Amino acid sequence: MNYKQALKHKIFKTISKSAAELNLDSYVIGGFVRDFLLQRGDAKDIDIVAIGSGIDLAKQVAKNLPNKPKVQVFKTYGTAMLKLNDIEVEFVGARKESYNEDSRNPIVENGTLQDDQNRRDFSINALALDLSEDNFGNLLDPFNGIQDLENKIIRTPLNPDITYSDDPLRMMRAIRFATQLGFIIEKESLDAITRNNKRIKIITNERIVVELNKILESKTPSTGFLLLEKTGLLQYILPELTALKGIDEVDGQKHKDNFYHTLEVVDNIAKHTDDVWLRWAALLHDIGKAPTKKFNKKVGWTFHGHEFEGSKMVYHLFKRLKMPLNDKMKFVQKLVFMSSRPIVLAQDIVTDSAVRRLVFDAGDYVDDLMTLCEADITTKNPKKFNKYHNNFKIVRKKIVEVEEKDHVRNFQPPISGEEIIKTFNLKPSREIGIIKEAIKEAILEGEIPNEYEPAYKLMIKKGQDLGLKISE
Ligand code: CTP
Repeated sequence: MNYKQALKHKIFKTISKSAAELNLDSYVIGGFVRDFLLQRGDAKDIDIVAIGSGIDLAKQVAKNLPNKPKVQVFKTYGTAMLKLNDIEVEFVGARKESYNEDSRNPIVENGTLQDDQNRRDFSINALALDLSEDNFGNLLDPFNGIQDLENKIIRTPLNPDITYSDDPLRMMRAIRFATQLGFIIEKESLDAITRNNKRIKIITNERIVVELNKILESKTPSTGFLLLEKTGLLQYILPELTALKGIDEVDGQKHKDNFYHTLEVVDNIAKHTDDVWLRWAALLHDIGKAPTKKFNKKVGWTFHGHEFEGSKMVYHLFKRLKMPLNDKMKFVQKLVFMSSRPIVLAQDIVTDSAVRRLVFDAGDYVDDLMTLCEADITTKNPKKFNKYHNNFKIVRKKIVEVEEKDHVRNFQPPISGEEIIKTFNLKPSREIGIIKEAIKEAILEGEIPNEYEPAYKLMIKKGQDLGLKISE
């Protein structure tokens, strides 16, 4: 088969010419070819294999390009990279590799194209297109990758035990591709992942998180998390989630399986947001339920304080996985901490003051919090489902109304502490706090609008109640 049409970009002709000048063969391989055949849009990464030195080929290509781009050389890996606008082209010499037990770092020797294809992760990632001038665009597919693309199958070129053990990150990549592409991992491969799951421990957290994010960014993230759980990988990566598995029963009273519930919530939220951090919040919103679970004869199963516990766990989880401990983490923490607040509203009559308090506490996160809580409605009782959703519609409407009226989202008190001090000629004292709190409470309760005049009047009244005298 010939796929010249995949090689329309002018870089491929330049590589072809440069390789001929160096008297070596070169191929485009991996994700670029796969994504072209899947019509996944133009890939931004192009991987080139040279039968010879990848670094020399990269330098020759750069020389032949009109703008003479800089070549970045990674000597230790024997690779080189150059950038063409937003496209990154990576060059590597064909390799024959073997790995040792405790590390991902291979022992590398020069090899043929076939050697190089053998050491790739999946048949669909081993597809190569010839860049030589005579066979430009010819497909080299030694493992029936084309057929696997058609049948939507993830399969390793070699015995899966070898492929996964060589580089355990591939276990996560298999699951990530299955999730992104809607493919099935063939049984032998899935069994091999299960057998080798412990070896994920030698992979750095940063690389694991890259794959987790790609799973979370997929259309149906649950596919990936179910596979991670089924193969036993999840217990090593996110034990907080596997701890949510299972249903306990005491005196005929059960609670729901919070693991499967969580996955439903993540799939729901994926329909409404592409924000990966909001998806993380959905994934972690119930993690505090495992350590707080208790049974009480009167009320059945309880998870008191799970939101607070969960938000503390978010920090430890992010730290362990070397995820950023920045405002993104704080966002996830806050959403987990507040994740039960709107549901209480949805079960009850929605009052203005409850909505005002919600907006006050959630600040700018209130819309994302609502999205999370809507996704959290997984009840199979259609009556309850409709009731909660309708109530959330009312809550959303009221959030807008309350905001227009009272601006409590990023609340600035209408009367400052300074003014209270001046009015009553006070030294810094607890009375100032009491008056400020009373004004805030009155605004949130809707007793006074969030305006200067009524707040001033209330300050005077509260001050007098406290026995303070207005200064002359
Ligand atoms: N590869 C591999 N084993 C890995 C990582 C990568 O065999 N652990 C090979 C595959 O042939 C892959 C190619 O290197 O196609 C490029 O890897 P990478 O750029 O990480 O992934 P892509 O397949 O391009 O996919 P994506 O861009 O979606 O990550």
